[in-house]
Amino acid sequence: MFEQTGPMRTGTMAAAVAVMAVLGAACANADEPRHFANADDAVLVSKGRVEYAQYCGSCHGRNLQGQALWQLQDQFVGRRAPAQDATGHTWQHSDENLFHMVKFGRFPDAPKGAVSYMPAFADSLNDAEILAVLAFIKARWPIGIRASQASLNPGFAGMPADIGSTPWTLPPNCSASFQNWAEGSR
Ligand code: HEC
Repeated sequence: MFEQTGPMRTGTMAAAVAVMAVLGAACANADEPRHFANADDAVLVSKGRVEYAQYCGSCHGRNLQGQALWQLQDQFVGRRAPAQDATGHTWQHSDENLFHMVKFGRFPDAPKGAVSYMPAFADSLNDAEILAVLAFIKARWPIGIRASQASLNPGFAGMPADIGSTPWTLPPNCSASFQNWAEGSR
């Protein structure tokens, strides 16, 4: 091993170090915990289904369809609970941001003092339970939406395994996901 240190070897090492430096810069906050909800884990998804019915369905709808008129924001009820199926916009957020939303009741980049009617579940669900409920929500999305959302996760985590062998299309408004991803990776 060690006697192979010719110019080639040094060059390869230098390239590897350069790649690692770039990767390091791209994941500047790599020491922060990263949360990923595995929608391909059937056990996790079925746990999440039970939790969803207990904690989330009353607002987000039994079938993830959202509160009636969820698209409207007005002076009476502010923001209603949005749909979490393919008609909503939950899939336009990374797993990490969704995790943060469920645990703390707000997205990490929400302005300080912003009012949200989404309860924080930090006291009623542990981290594993939050990931289970997110896995359940993600498992309900069609493959194109799952692909678009996976593009927001580090390393495209959650990209459907059968993406190469199944016909699918990206959602019409998926460019939002790719824009967020480009901004987040700067
Ligand atoms: C009391 C009603 C209520 C309950 C119960 C509730 N939510 Fe929400 N949720 C909301 C509202 C209202 C919003 C919109 C908040 C905003 O935009 O400021 C929201 C937003 C969200 C979002 C962001 C969605 C998006 O598309 O931007 C996620 C994710 C979410 N909720 C997950 C959950 C999960 C998971 C549960 C159950 C563990 C849950 N919520 C329970 C009211 C609720």
